[in-house]
Amino acid sequence: MTRLLVTGGAGFIGANFVRSALERGYDVDVLDALTYAGNTANLEGLDAELHIGDIGDEALVDTLTRRVDTVVHFAAESHNDNSLTDPSPFVRTNVNGTFTLLEASRRHDTRFHHVSTDEVFGDLALDDPNRFTEDTPYNPSSPYSATKAASDHLVRAWVRSFGLRATISNCSNNYGPFQHVEKFIPRQITNLLDGRVPKLYGTGEQVRDWIHVDDHNAAVLTILERGRIGETYNIGADNDHVSNKQVIELICELMGADGYEHVADRPGHDLRYAMDSSKLRRELGWEPQFTDTDSGMREGLEQTIRWYRDNESWWRPQKDAVEQAYAERGQ
Ligand code: NAD
Ligand code: TYD
Repeated sequence: MTRLLVTGGAGFIGANFVRSALERGYDVDVLDALTYAGNTANLEGLDAELHIGDIGDEALVDTLTRRVDTVVHFAAESHNDNSLTDPSPFVRTNVNGTFTLLEASRRHDTRFHHVSTDEVFGDLALDDPNRFTEDTPYNPSSPYSATKAASDHLVRAWVRSFGLRATISNCSNNYGPFQHVEKFIPRQITNLLDGRVPKLYGTGEQVRDWIHVDDHNAAVLTILERGRIGETYNIGADNDHVSNKQVIELICELMGADGYEHVADRPGHDLRYAMDSSKLRRELGWEPQFTDTDSGMREGLEQTIRWYRDNESWWRPQKDAVEQAYAERGQ
């Protein structure tokens, strides 16, 4: 039996990962600071041990790292818009926190998997037919993506300099149950459930290569079990033809609503992300499961909408404050 330390396991992707890992037979410890994005309700009913604390807490991280076989590192400040308002927690958690985890993993020779994002590569022009590969040079745009890029570099340096047994995955935009209402898809779903108008930044022509969170986490488990040490794997579900406008229109269609409004654009807004995940598919045999044809998202969005409809008590406490903060920015 392998024991995992899942950092950020009370957040969106981390909590879904904990569920999948337990189903697969792993023992799981969670380390989570329970920031505004962490929620103990995400782990309700799951047989994982939650340790509330910061990944920058050297003593705590040392103790927890020593007792596990593998660290799976999800914890991060994860929202671009917040990083434009105050970048400091992004540097603290994403850079310094990752450093603390790497040092503990080095001391105890712990296997390490680092969860990262496609945003480290910057963006592509809307008409650029290329996709990001594992060899695409880093060119991050925002404080969020710059700090994630920095953390990826730290992991690679620890592999090369200290022989750390680490892998990295860079994934495209996730959606699914338990995603905070500040993010694009849950914001629009809960806007409609709450009688508010969905909000599209700028023209909405931007493209995100959307993937269901369960497909992302299945890929992470595959890399943990069969990935080659020192390697990076891109994760994506080939949805790089779907614009934000199309996503919001599909949500409106699925929820029987007929309108949305354009609001102030995000400064420095990345245009298009597109992931080439052929290395992961070819070498490790991973395939996404949410792959229906018209947008690649209909089935996953229907499931996600159902989840937010059925779990209003989960999102309701955050909703007003999130909308108030957006309204202050004209969004
Ligand atoms: P999230 O914001 O929903 O959750 C982050 C979790 O980390 C929260 O539970 C929070 O309490 C915890 N956390 C934050 N700072 C911490 C600290 N200093 N110490 C301990 N815990 C702390 O984020 P998410 O969307 O689940 O993203 C998880 C990871 O996946 C991040 O590393 C992110 O960069 C990466 N990622 C996200 C996406 C996406 O679309 N959401 C896509 C690709 C990669
Ligand atoms: P987001 O979920 O914040 O993820 P990221 O910034 O990591 O891509 O946003 C996804 C896309 O949706 C992004 O292009 C910004 C856009 N967006 C909106 O159009 N309206 C919104 O209310 C939000 C939150 C985002």
